[in-house]
Amino acid sequence: MKNIILTGDRPTGKLHIGHYVGSLKRRVELQNSDKFDEIYVMIADAQALTDNFDNPDKVRANITEVALDYLACGIDPKKSTIFVQSHVAELTELTFYYMNLVTLARLERNPTVKTEIRQKGFGASLPMGFLTYPVSQTADITAFKANVVPVGEDQLPMLEQAREIVRSFNGLYGETLVEPKAVLPENKSCLRLPGTDGMAKMSKSLGNCIYLSDSADEIKRKVMGMYTDPNHVKVTDPGNTSENPTFIYLDAFSTDEHFAKYLPEYANLSEMKAHYERGGLGDMKVKKLLNNVMQETLEPIRIRREEFAKDIPAVWEMLKQGSEYAKSVAAQTLSEVKRAMKINYFEK
Ligand code: TRP
Repeated sequence: MKNIILTGDRPTGKLHIGHYVGSLKRRVELQNSDKFDEIYVMIADAQALTDNFDNPDKVRANITEVALDYLACGIDPKKSTIFVQSHVAELTELTFYYMNLVTLARLERNPTVKTEIRQKGFGASLPMGFLTYPVSQTADITAFKANVVPVGEDQLPMLEQAREIVRSFNGLYGETLVEPKAVLPENKSCLRLPGTDGMAKMSKSLGNCIYLSDSADEIKRKVMGMYTDPNHVKVTDPGNTSENPTFIYLDAFSTDEHFAKYLPEYANLSEMKAHYERGGLGDMKVKKLLNNVMQETLEPIRIRREEFAKDIPAVWEMLKQGSEYAKSVAAQTLSEVKRAMKINYFEK
């Protein structure tokens, strides 16, 4: 069996450091491991429209932003096919057939979708497109016969749904589709990076994100303004590190080399945490280290992003070529699906 990756992001905003540690970094490592036969990275504009259908300008503008974020992080169009979902019409056709294999009750049970519906306050005006996006996501994955899907933790219910549809399809029509599995980050702090304000998740609407494209000044301002442990008032007070976003970010980003370079009085993060927990270590010192770590991590990404941003037509050309290739692959799967479903009437 071939090893094939498919993953993607909705173009609803620029990508932030939560996307980076949650999935992007891993994708680049997998891409460069040479263990995969094919890698597809999709900009999920059709899915983004399921809850932004009234704002196509936003989705359109963010296609460029997400593509630049991908290139900046090291997703290499020579090794990975980067494409735009809406330009692979075969995905829509597959979605239509998969709809038969899922019940309304099942879609309503999806915990990620349930939370999103609540947060977006759809109420009775819930668009069908939004409720059914996990089915379309199954089409995205199966069209490329992907077996590995590197995603954030919130996407696990989508993968579960995809596996169910694949099993149901293969059971009814014969072995055709490949069951995918999710690949999550190994570092627990990377699973769901909190916002700079300590909220559970980074989100554009909460204004608590550090973006991959942020300037050095913006990064510094955001790090210095981060929420820490509210009970750590005086430097001498014992502090909490496990629910403290500054330490969670250090968990996700810092290495022993960072300590050697910026704060040699500690050999590593555990020593620094122990000091904070017993008292005597101020937040300022923690934030200064974190700022150095974030600057060092994000600077090369920002520089590469600025380079790619100088030639936007080349970025669109890359997406166009990627989409054409993706379309040819999806068309192949679609014809296998139609044959399995016995609707290949005019095939010779
Ligand atoms: N739902 C994903 C997100 O919000 C984007 C996505 C669409 C996706 N189709 C996919 C991810 C297929 C993995 C596989 O980020």
